[in-house]
Amino acid sequence: MKVERIKAISLDKKIAQKYAEEIAFQQIGQPIKKVKYLGGGSFGRAYKVTFEDDKKIVVKFLRASDMLEKEIYDLDLLAANCSVKIPSVLFSRKADDEIPVDCYGMELIEGGNAVFSLGLLLSSKRKRKQFADEVTTALYNIHCHKNDKFGDTLCPTYSRWLDFYKPFAHQILIKAEEMFSNGELPQKVIFTMRAAWEKFDIIFSEEVVEACLVHGDLNIANIMVDKNHKLSGFIDPLNSMYADREYDLFQFDNLFGKRFYLRKTYVEKYGAGKYCDAKCAFYGLFNEAYCYIKSGMLVSFIMNPLVKNMNKRLAEL
Ligand SMILES: Nc1ncnc2c1ncn2[C@@H]1O[C@H](COP(=O)(O)OP(=O)(O)O)[C@@H](O)[C@H]1O
Ligand SMILES: [Mg+2]
Repeated sequence: MKVERIKAISLDKKIAQKYAEEIAFQQIGQPIKKVKYLGGGSFGRAYKVTFEDDKKIVVKFLRASDMLEKEIYDLDLLAANCSVKIPSVLFSRKADDEIPVDCYGMELIEGGNAVFSLGLLLSSKRKRKQFADEVTTALYNIHCHKNDKFGDTLCPTYSRWLDFYKPFAHQILIKAEEMFSNGELPQKVIFTMRAAWEKFDIIFSEEVVEACLVHGDLNIANIMVDKNHKLSGFIDPLNSMYADREYDLFQFDNLFGKRFYLRKTYVEKYGAGKYCDAKCAFYGLFNEAYCYIKSGMLVSFIMNPLVKNMNKRLAEL
């Protein structure tokens, strides 16, 4: 996982819609009724393609040249180890002169992501807790898939979690320092990162015994919900690894994840180490800095609460 800026390949939304139509026709060989943009973040763009016979698939473009192999590998690996639906990959296509962006086709998951599920967000505490129960059961399923070594799913080679994670976090800190010197990172972010790094050995003093498969990006924008507000699937893994299973818990607090008691429910059901709160604060802050380094986009409404939370957890140590 390289800690450096990745220049996103430019891709106009309307042109991508045409590409999605062309690719779906080439790959599936059936006439298409319509193509609709579903959403996307720094590097992804997803489109729903509906064929004349009403069959639907999703075509996702990846605007960075080194993501395709890992994303489709991780989707397959997670799908084989999870009790809820993770889209199966139908085809993949590397960029060429005709269509200059990598992409793949996958199964459509019913419903929409949990961020836009107003019905679920506003439902009773009992229903939200029931949802948390379903999500955490499925995530724990993934975590039960273990490996002898830690590291990226494509090449897990580390005997200890910290042999992998500490140098990675350190590289993030070094890059963040560079950005701070160039006036590209707010002072409060770097001060908090430095303070957290100082306490690294305390926060990570408990040995991580098992290398568990993690999704890596399970915030509520990547959790799908059907029209009855029931969990319908997980999508969009990022940085999937064999890791500390608590690495998957910080994303639960991003966006309005706390409204669903996701992290709390996971910890109640499956337990966590003494420093779980501080570790999640650290993972969250350093991951957001990593995303900023890669994409060049600072998302203040995500970064600011992470900084605040890290300072709170540091004060508790
Ligand atoms: N397989 C799928 N089925 C249904 N909707 C999907 C699927 N994949 C993506 N989406 C929709 O598209 C949005 C963006 O896709 P996502 O894979 O999360 O992109 P990014 O990597 O840019 O975050 C998701 O939030 C979801 O609403
Ligand atoms: Mg996503």
